[in-house]
Amino acid sequence: MDIILLGPPGAGKGTQASRLVSDLGMVQLSTGDMLRAAVKAGTPTGQAAKAVMESGGLVSDEIVSGIIGERLDELGSGPGLIFDGYPRTAAQARSLDTLLAERGRKLDYVIELVVDEDALVERITGRFTCAKCGEGYHDVFKLPAVAGVCDVCGATEFKRRPDDNAETVRTRMAEYRAKTAPILPHYEAAGLVRRVDGMADIGDVTAAIEAIMSNRPTGEAASVA
Ligand code: AP5
Ligand code: MG
Repeated sequence: MDIILLGPPGAGKGTQASRLVSDLGMVQLSTGDMLRAAVKAGTPTGQAAKAVMESGGLVSDEIVSGIIGERLDELGSGPGLIFDGYPRTAAQARSLDTLLAERGRKLDYVIELVVDEDALVERITGRFTCAKCGEGYHDVFKLPAVAGVCDVCGATEFKRRPDDNAETVRTRMAEYRAKTAPILPHYEAAGLVRRVDGMADIGDVTAAIEAIMSNRPTGEAASVA
């Protein structure tokens, strides 16, 4: 099953994708993570993307659809895919349709994480990750069980994203409203969109997504009419 997780910055796309990877053996395709890896490695793609990402703007459609196409080729016809942070524009949505069709795949669901924008700045400015394994944490909502030690790999170094400051978050939100939210009707017309309450507890959001994917009722906590 191939799905898109759609939602503004801080909606919980990455958090939910990594839980679906653990629970269901799916593969997460995060263009944000891929671009950050390219920036770190200093590749031409990374050099082109760095300043745009730090400003909160969107990297070009050609670059991101190019890296998604390459990744799809590497993966072949393996497990189900979770698109996290892609597509983000109408042009990217069209590219994804083509990339999947060329490989004999199709989208099963577009799951929109419905969130209260006022809460997102707090979520994003409190976010940090393990510098070794990438496990995500939050200063208030998800601290490691032992302070300063990663629950997953035991590392003691953590890092924060350079674009996780209040000013850049506002630009990222504006980009989402102007360019990404307008792709929803494309998927609504195809009957693929399902909505989940992204303000519910992290585990309830995962349960609601997994219920959608297995065609079960979504339950009270994270269902959205
Ligand atoms: P990207 O990395 O995709 O960032 P984003 O969309 O801004 O989303 P985030 O990663 O900030 O949020 P998230 O929804 O994953 O939330 P998370 O799960 O971490 O993109 C970064 C940049 O790269 C873009 O600005 C752009 O420049 C470029 N880019 C990437 N893709 C592109 C594309 N396709 N086209 C063009 N440019 C592209 O959760 C946030 C925090 O909240 C965490 O600390 C988490 O623990 C906490 N949390 C999560 N869920 C809950 C919950 N239910 N309750 C309480 N806390 C929660
Ligand atoms: Mg993310």
